[in-house]
Amino acid sequence: MMLKIHRLYHFFSVINIDVTKTTNLRENLDMQQAIASSAPKPGTENAVLIEEAEQKQHALSVRWSDGNITSYHYLWLRDNCASGFHPDTQERCFDQLSVSADIHPIRIEFDTECLSVDWSEGDHSSRYPLSWLREFAYSEELRRQQTSSYESWASDFVERIPAAEQPEVMSSDEVLYHWMSDLDKHGLAIIRKMPATDEAVVDTAQRIDYLRRTNFGVTFNVISVPKPINLAYTSIALPLHTDLANQEVPPGYQFLHCLANESEGGASTFVDGLRVLEDLREEAPEHFRLLAEHPIPFRFHDEDHDIRQHHPVINLDCFGNIVEIKYNAHLADIFDLPEVFMHEYYLAYRNLMGRLKDPRYMIRLKLKGGEMVVFDNRRVLHGRDAFDPTTGLRHLRGCYVDRSEFKSRLRVLAKQFA
Ligand SMILES: [Fe+2]
Repeated sequence: MMLKIHRLYHFFSVINIDVTKTTNLRENLDMQQAIASSAPKPGTENAVLIEEAEQKQHALSVRWSDGNITSYHYLWLRDNCASGFHPDTQERCFDQLSVSADIHPIRIEFDTECLSVDWSEGDHSSRYPLSWLREFAYSEELRRQQTSSYESWASDFVERIPAAEQPEVMSSDEVLYHWMSDLDKHGLAIIRKMPATDEAVVDTAQRIDYLRRTNFGVTFNVISVPKPINLAYTSIALPLHTDLANQEVPPGYQFLHCLANESEGGASTFVDGLRVLEDLREEAPEHFRLLAEHPIPFRFHDEDHDIRQHHPVINLDCFGNIVEIKYNAHLADIFDLPEVFMHEYYLAYRNLMGRLKDPRYMIRLKLKGGEMVVFDNRRVLHGRDAFDPTTGLRHLRGCYVDRSEFKSRLRVLAKQFA
């Protein structure tokens, strides 16, 4: 099936639609437009129009006025017809198996606002706003243009760490939104003027959403104790790491409220894993590939738990963006990689270990009582210098909020303040 429809020929030809269909199509359009609310609106100066649409065997090939060519498969278009979503919840209700795999358009039309399709099955029509089609285009070319919102940093970040004050974060959604946006972008931010209470870290983190409970509880105290189950509960130096790589999904954002830091030593150290991995990818691509493709085991165990998980050290998204690092020398279990590349893997791992010790990546913060540092545990590695507990109290109190909840809150706030 090869049918080309040009813009001039069919520009005003959407006229043979009965009233019932028009009502349904209007509802569909409203819903699609609601979905596409963040995309450029048709009719604006920046709107991109369809120049030509060509029906191929399984997909509609669309040539746009900006030169992009995108494909929309018939199964995908039918699956995403707005009529298939619940009008209140906007959850998908359409059963893909209610149509055959051979469904195809028997008529297509487009104008400056919408693409309309009459389908070969079910006496059904669909309308798709052009802005929606562009927002969800999945052609290789447009996918390549997708970039991460993250901005990586090195040691000079210490001069420009984003910060807000706790009373404002608690009382103003706008302050919360801008602080969260900075945290999202850089992976680390500070809150000052924290109340000197055990509840403050939880109250502040819950401004974002509910907390992540782990085997250490909903909150944890980082303080030296006589019989520690974890090196964090000693006074020795902690090398840079991400927390709980032994979990199926490690916790997202970590909140560390400093209640006291009067000991000698005890500065907190941070490295942006994203920057380290960007450089590794550039300078040693084969090592980067090994760390991204092959999972290694992580394990935490004490009297009550034995929590194990294999993960690759580096996670990429479907566009190749670096989205996560899992690195914890203390929780790394006995490597069980195939023997053919065990040696090469160790070379890659050692390359990364060496880079994580490079001072050009590291920031060092001696947190003061009343300060809280918050960081993306799946991106920013943290550690601390040794401290002498006989010289004064060092007490941090922490909790986690996962990435899903953080991103959700940020999206909701962005509707109001972006
Ligand atoms: Fe930690």
